[in-house]
Amino acid sequence: MDVQTLTKPSVLILLGPPGAGKGTQARMLQDKFGLVQLSTGDLLRAAVAAGTEAGKKAKAVMEAGDLVSDDIVIAILKDRLAEPDTAKGVILDGFPRTTAQAEALDDLLDQTGQSINAAISLEVDDDAMVTRISGRYTCATCGEGYHDSFKKPAVEGVCDNCGGTEMKRRADDNAETVGARLAAYHAQTAPLIDYYDRKGALRRIDAMGTIDKIASDMGSIVKDVSA
Ligand code: AP5
Repeated sequence: MDVQTLTKPSVLILLGPPGAGKGTQARMLQDKFGLVQLSTGDLLRAAVAAGTEAGKKAKAVMEAGDLVSDDIVIAILKDRLAEPDTAKGVILDGFPRTTAQAEALDDLLDQTGQSINAAISLEVDDDAMVTRISGRYTCATCGEGYHDSFKKPAVEGVCDNCGGTEMKRRADDNAETVGARLAAYHAQTAPLIDYYDRKGALRRIDAMGTIDKIASDMGSIVKDVSA
């Protein structure tokens, strides 16, 4: 796919409950527009796998479906934003998730003279999220996401993107943890929809449609706010 060049580098936020499709759409936007996907979930899982101090603190919290402390997440995101590839523009997938994180992001962007182009809220029913999460798996090699029913690779067990044959499922994708993750979303993250609405940055997407339809709607928003 040819990468479409945006007129100005963008800072896009994807808001949405677990399973809404943030990661799926962030990867598609990354491929389409050359932006960099920053997923705090992926960064935290990498810290857990590497056994860093932050990872050790985050592990049990993530397994319970609760939110990792603001201090840890903000520090991880700040370090990642300081890397040079982010100058192309970023898609924040899963950050911010609390008002304290949103305020910290505002401060960070102020320091670098950047601003948020759009906070895109992916709106889905709670029931759909449970179905999406319980069928999710990813390629262990490149991280491409799949679903048992909604997004299968062309050849079963072989990644369309890299040809890898090892697939994995997340430790927190189980019925008990999904309930806790949804509760955390409604209590701590959903208020950010109003936060960004008040700033005039909010865009809403009906995320109950097909992956391709949502990607098309997202692409229109990105072009609109980055022209
Ligand atoms: P994180 O990794 O961010 O998980 P999440 O928010 O729970 O979101 P998911 O990755 O589960 O879902 P998604 O919206 O990306 O959906 P996906 O595209 O995969 O966070 C994990 C944990 O880390 C948190 O619980 C917390 O502990 C911690 N954490 C992370 N960030 C934090 C922060 N900022 N502060 C504090 N703690 C933090 O899609 C799901 C499935 O559905 C896939 O199989 C996909 O193929 C399928 N699908 C996607 N779209 C569609 C569609 N339109 N129709 C049908 N199927 C679809």
